[in-house]
Amino acid sequence: MDELVEKAQVLHEALPYIRRFHQRTFVVKYGGHAMVDEALKESFARDVCLLRYVGIRVVVVHGGGPQINQMLDRVGIASTFSGGLRVTDDATMDVVEMVLGGGVNQEIVGMICQHGGRAVGLSGKDDRFMRGTRLEKVRAKDARGEPVLVDLGRVGEVSHVEAGILENLISSGFIPVIAPIAVDKDGHSLNVNADTAAGSIASALNAAKLVLMTDVDGVKTATGERLSSLGSAEAEELIAGNVITGGMIPKVRCALDAVNGGVEKVHIIDGRRLHALLLEIFTDLGVGTEIRRGKV
Ligand SMILES: Nc1ncnc2c1ncn2[C@@H]1O[C@H](COP(=O)(O)OP(=O)(O)OP(=O)(O)O)[C@@H](O)[C@H]1O
Ligand SMILES: [Mg+2]
Repeated sequence: MDELVEKAQVLHEALPYIRRFHQRTFVVKYGGHAMVDEALKESFARDVCLLRYVGIRVVVVHGGGPQINQMLDRVGIASTFSGGLRVTDDATMDVVEMVLGGGVNQEIVGMICQHGGRAVGLSGKDDRFMRGTRLEKVRAKDARGEPVLVDLGRVGEVSHVEAGILENLISSGFIPVIAPIAVDKDGHSLNVNADTAAGSIASALNAAKLVLMTDVDGVKTATGERLSSLGSAEAEELIAGNVITGGMIPKVRCALDAVNGGVEKVHIIDGRRLHALLLEIFTDLGVGTEIRRGKV
């Protein structure tokens, strides 16, 4: 009996959050690195369904770095690297599009539908809703640590999100699941960072929350402690000091852009933790790192 009462109490505790977020929009970025096992993916799909059924307008944007690497290995496409960064040539872009748009995207769509949600998969090419421009040259460091400018090929940045198709889908009860592929003015696909795509989509939808689910429990300091909150000045210091590196840089940058672009809250959380998404939304536990608004 006590156990039953406890269950009812848990539901009651969630009530203020459900009320606050009813009919609000959440963009959830599910990182390829957090898709570690089947149980975790299933639980993510169920969490997304639950959010939708309590009246939250959910949009999922996914990554897929490790899945792309696996497929490149399998089909024997050797990558060229420039300044430590992968160059996306045309053959690599075909694999990127296949893995993100076909593989990872449809797997997430299938799982959400399996649990009763009405997910629809799309990439920026659908209705040309996510436009991008090719990155001409990117700053990187060569083997000796010297700064160099490199051409990354079919890699772009999001220039515009036309939110109409997403608004229509959401209003009709669907959960858009988005692969991070943008389309340039000539109709070519561009690989865009999924965090950056999620940030631009969250701003275009005026989202209440952007949640970035990754494979670490938040942004860490040089001594490995998790920061529960982070603002732009401190973030720039940590990037300049090589404490925030690699895939965490676009995450932090897009998070700062999103809070300064009107998104109310941005959280970077550990997607490897079961039900991390629900804990973040329905409790005051303060998991992960919250990104603070401020001067950019
Ligand atoms: N200061 C830092 N704190 C925490 N993680 C950091 C930091 N600096 C760099 N990282 C790295 O950033 C990684 C997360 O970004 P990454 O791009 O690898 O994953 P993802 O974005 O979740 O997945 P995907 O790119 O496939 O969507 C962490 O695994 C960690 O190694
Ligand atoms: Mg990443």
